Amino acid sequence: MQSSRQSQLQAIADSLRQLSDSPLYAYRVEHNYAPVAGEGDAHASIMLIGEAPGEWEAKSGRPFVGASGRLLDSLLQSIGFQRSDVFITNVVKDRPPENRAPTTAEIQFYAPFLRQQIVVIQPRIFATLGRFAMEFLFGFFGLPVKGQKISKLHGTHLEAEASYGKVTIVPLYHPAVALYNTAQRETLETDFRLLKQVMEEVG
Ligand code: URA
Repeated sequence: MQSSRQSQLQAIADSLRQLSDSPLYAYRVEHNYAPVAGEGDAHASIMLIGEAPGEWEAKSGRPFVGASGRLLDSLLQSIGFQRSDVFITNVVKDRPPENRAPTTAEIQFYAPFLRQQIVVIQPRIFATLGRFAMEFLFGFFGLPVKGQKISKLHGTHLEAEASYGKVTIVPLYHPAVALYNTAQRETLETDFRLLKQVMEEVG
């Protein structure tokens, strides 16, 4: 039987499928893509948030299954986790054409879905993958957004207050930046070790 959280997440995924007023809906239908709601443990204490699905994700309906996803899996494994231990999702739930960055209108359009997922899962720790997820969460939790840079904030963690209690945000680079850059990959590996420490302290 599905837990109440699982059925609430299922309802969010179902409503994403019917979202014909999305600015990305025509592109989805034209390419026979699926929306990508997210996946993982409905009771996870950690939520990882990326930017938007790419082609592999839109074809399969699952987050982070392409090259960035394989790197994400190995980073999770390096700290003793599998994707089934966490919940992985994105700010934008449909693929933007040719993997361009999501527009402000698209981010705003999909924001209610991510907000609902957060309220259902109630994660104590958020790992943001890239700028879009970091800015979304800072806005959501009322932290200053302007002028915040991942290059300054990665390797640190921030406290915020959710409706369900204290949460910790760990800003990380997006795995895509580390795919072809060894130095960035080492930075991500180091930052994942910090994420593990935070999980041991908070999770
Ligand atoms: N990049 C993202 O930000 N999200 C995915 O799901 C895949 C690649």
